[in-house]
Amino acid sequence: MTKFLFVTDLDHTFVGDDQALLELSDRLQRHRAEYGTKIVYSTGRSPTLYQELQLQKNLFSPDALVLSVGTEIYLDGSNNPDPQWSSILSQGWDSQKILSITEQFPELVLQPDTEQRPFKVSFFLKAELSGILPQLESELQKTKLNIKLIYSSGIDLDILPLTSDKGQAMQFLRQKWEFAAEQTVVCGDSGNDIALFAVGRERGIIVGNARPELIQWHNQNPADYRYLAQNRCAAGIMEGLTYFGFLE
Ligand code: GLC
Ligand code: MG
Repeated sequence: MTKFLFVTDLDHTFVGDDQALLELSDRLQRHRAEYGTKIVYSTGRSPTLYQELQLQKNLFSPDALVLSVGTEIYLDGSNNPDPQWSSILSQGWDSQKILSITEQFPELVLQPDTEQRPFKVSFFLKAELSGILPQLESELQKTKLNIKLIYSSGIDLDILPLTSDKGQAMQFLRQKWEFAAEQTVVCGDSGNDIALFAVGRERGIIVGNARPELIQWHNQNPADYRYLAQNRCAAGIMEGLTYFGFLE
């Protein structure tokens, strides 16, 4: 056994099966103590919603926390986002300009204030209204802002800096800690996790309960370094870690 970089989404991936979560948490923490494995949670949640989940599920402390869909990186339990990462994202980011366009689309409903972040503007958009996305995107592109749209779970629309998403945040940490792509494994279940799987050749685990948007992307972009688990949530992660030989 040797150390690896473990990066996981939380909702419906790491969290969702309490029994399996306990077992996986225990095995990962032992691996970290024994081999120096690094553990990263990567979620769409803001600090407020992360803390709620952390308390509710008693999540153990990771080595880094990636919040707000990759736009905030917290290292070693710090309460302040990594300034190096924030400065990369601030180039050409202007949320006021984004809002001046999005307010022309009545289909977009702003998410709660806690989910509006320095480098993330988020809406609810019902699946049956998601046909507006191409038009919204083209209106936003006219402003020449460097941004991207990520639609997840048939309801959540995030607008982020072009330089940011879960995949790019993961690579920032991977390079910082000097892990090869072959020694890195990423896990997810929905649209905002596609960036984790698409950015490079890191080992990927798609949990058995993944959303159609991720399964569809996977079917269109098959790769032998990506594993589609049978089991749900943390049980699917353990299945994948064993498949890749990271766990016994
Ligand atoms: C989390 C966040 C929300 C975001 C969604 C998808 O639910 O709270 O703001 O839109 O993840 O990334
Ligand atoms: Mg999820």
